[in-house]
Amino acid sequence: MINPLRGMKDLTFEESQRFNFIVETATIIAKRYGYGYIETPILEETALFKRSVGDSSDIVSKEMYQFMDKGDNDVCMRPEGTAGVVRAFVHAKLDRQPVKQKFYYYGPMFRYERPQKGRLREFHQFGCESFGEASVYEDFTIITMISQIFEALGIGFDLQINSLGCTTCMPPYKQKLVSFLTEIKEELCEDCNRRIGTNPIRVLDCKNKTCQSLLVDAPKLITNLCEACDTDFTKLTSLLDNAGIQYEVDTNLVRGLDYYNKTAFEFVSNNIGSQSAIAGGGRYDKLVEFLDGKPTPAVGFAIGIERIMELVQMPKTSRDGIYLGAMTEDAVESLFAIATAKRQETKVTLEYNSKGFKSHMKGADKVGARYVVLIGEDELANGTVWVKDVESKEEKTVLISEF
Ligand code: HAM
Repeated sequence: MINPLRGMKDLTFEESQRFNFIVETATIIAKRYGYGYIETPILEETALFKRSVGDSSDIVSKEMYQFMDKGDNDVCMRPEGTAGVVRAFVHAKLDRQPVKQKFYYYGPMFRYERPQKGRLREFHQFGCESFGEASVYEDFTIITMISQIFEALGIGFDLQINSLGCTTCMPPYKQKLVSFLTEIKEELCEDCNRRIGTNPIRVLDCKNKTCQSLLVDAPKLITNLCEACDTDFTKLTSLLDNAGIQYEVDTNLVRGLDYYNKTAFEFVSNNIGSQSAIAGGGRYDKLVEFLDGKPTPAVGFAIGIERIMELVQMPKTSRDGIYLGAMTEDAVESLFAIATAKRQETKVTLEYNSKGFKSHMKGADKVGARYVVLIGEDELANGTVWVKDVESKEEKTVLISEF
């Protein structure tokens, strides 16, 4: 027997229903906010992620499914969705159009991480990317939309927000941080030491307890923002306050992808174990330029579908559709015409084997059919069917032509 690869899963029955319900719910809400569907390839040039997610990020440096294809191209399976959408946006020259563009997508992402509960190597995201809107109202709108999606799915969450500043305030802050980190260098872990040189901001979210305790006194970006970033962040918090959306400002929230500036956020749940981030996102105003497009502000997010699968409250399913069965071999073929006609309007399960009454009732139960429609010898002779509405318990015999 061949098993799925480590960290990869098949989705069937109850799980696939949950998956679809999440995607459908999020899609309905995203459409209400003006998002249209975009599909981009799973396989992309490796350079795309190096330039966007960042060479020194864990995702790019350690976790990519990267290989040379048969044409000697350096390619990889997308570890996230934003870079591909931005590439597609630039490729279609949408950066040259004055209209604001909003896209939603869902699909598999690949990261070669150590699998554990809530952490897979192939996982699925539902994401949205909004292009062309620099106003912090858009950041607020996106956070509102995610809250609405989780509410519709019956999922509670905590929201953490931070500002990562911009090209004006980030560089001087980085310098301050590097000086601070260099002084405590000896006591920091190996990873942090490497990051001081490559990506000092990432030191702030090191999980190592000793590092965390040393970082309590680190300079905070939130108190070093330039005026524009500070005004926007204050506006965002007041909008969230007024909307009654609770949040916590986490000055160490830096996100694992390098393209963010200004607003960064994460939605977390305490009910799913250590991998508690259920959605993440933020603003990435420089990424379109970085991928050779015209300067275009942008903001987006992605929800981890597998992470919320167990938390979703599924709506009660009511019985629906028709179960068709024959109690005599001769009647089986007469069921096909009925099935084809009824499939124009509802779900039909057709049992090919003639069986006794009880067996058919059990079969109808298994597929959750609302109506059981059977043909026995009498019905066959009279051109009728016996119909039972399992919910109202009503039974009757009707002419096939009238059914
Ligand atoms: P991210 O935070 O890397 O952001 O991923 C978003 C979500 O995907 C996470 O919050 C988590 O729920 C889920 N996730 C990540 N890794 C795994 C994994 N190994 N197994 C299961 N679930 C996982 C991004 O990917 C950005 N592209 C989000 C974004 C869109 N920012 C702006 N636009």
